[in-house]
Amino acid sequence: MTRDLAQLPKGHLHLHFEASTRPLTLRDFAAEADAPVPSWTDFADFLDFQDAYGEVLALIRRPEQLERIMTEMADDAKADGVVYVEVTLAPVLHAHLFDGDAEAVLRFLLAAAEREEERTGVVIRAMIASARVMSVELALEDARLAAQYAGRGVVSYGLHSDERGAPAAPFAAAFDIAREAGLLITPHAGELEGPESVREAIEVLRADRVLHGVRVIEDPELTAEVARLGVTLDVCPSSNVVLHVVPDLEHHPLPALLAAGVSCSINADDPIQFGPNVLEEYELARERLGLTDEQLAGCARASITASGAPEDVQTRAL
Ligand code: ADE
Ligand code: ZN
Repeated sequence: MTRDLAQLPKGHLHLHFEASTRPLTLRDFAAEADAPVPSWTDFADFLDFQDAYGEVLALIRRPEQLERIMTEMADDAKADGVVYVEVTLAPVLHAHLFDGDAEAVLRFLLAAAEREEERTGVVIRAMIASARVMSVELALEDARLAAQYAGRGVVSYGLHSDERGAPAAPFAAAFDIAREAGLLITPHAGELEGPESVREAIEVLRADRVLHGVRVIEDPELTAEVARLGVTLDVCPSSNVVLHVVPDLEHHPLPALLAAGVSCSINADDPIQFGPNVLEEYELARERLGLTDEQLAGCARASITASGAPEDVQTRAL
């Protein structure tokens, strides 16, 4: 008998808020905006995906839509056996709905998350992420906002978007602000760029976790170092296939990373664009990557212990 993966208590640590919108909800949003329903078959490149993300953003035109996304995200998490979500927020993306006030966006989203936590029992905390392709000044503003809400709903600070030709080092001061406030350091790296980007995330930003990080496998010594340091990689297998980080699921390095002793969590990243929800990612990891029940349970454990989940969630998971 194999274990029912829905029953495995897990955290979801790599989920971009807007990309958790359900397909049917996106359809409603498009109808409301009298716009065509976005549909994507494949992405030639990350920039194509970025455009697709923009299409979702363009359909969010009222704060109540953000509440609906949060409600459905919590329900979907519960159905997948997720006990804790560390959802990635970029408040600045919705500031135009709140008179340009990113803090008002954050307050609104955190209040929605708190209500959903009470309703569903799924504990929800936020990671604030800046975009590498934006200015360091904007990242400093994000980091200050994240620091202000540390321990009041925000638990981590990250960096996302296109890694190529966009080093993380200039953002070190923003990460210093976050670290001093007690936030976990959680940049994306090692997705569109190779091992040197993971090294930069760990050595310059002093990452606690690396989102993706999978291309570290190209450097066995650095892979061993990541294992030794206990830095967790928040791995998203389907995302890596769709964005051509790996040629297909069968070539995904998750089994090799685990074999090298690297702590990994399993995540969906952007389910509206990539397809599978987090439970389906666990199922794919079993069926297509050959992970054993023990390995899957290890990933689920890491998804709690490496997270910013409160103490009671941590102890329940152990
Ligand atoms: N933002 C949303 N999804 C992302 C990904 N897979 N990589 C980098 N930035 C992202
Ligand atoms: Zn991501």
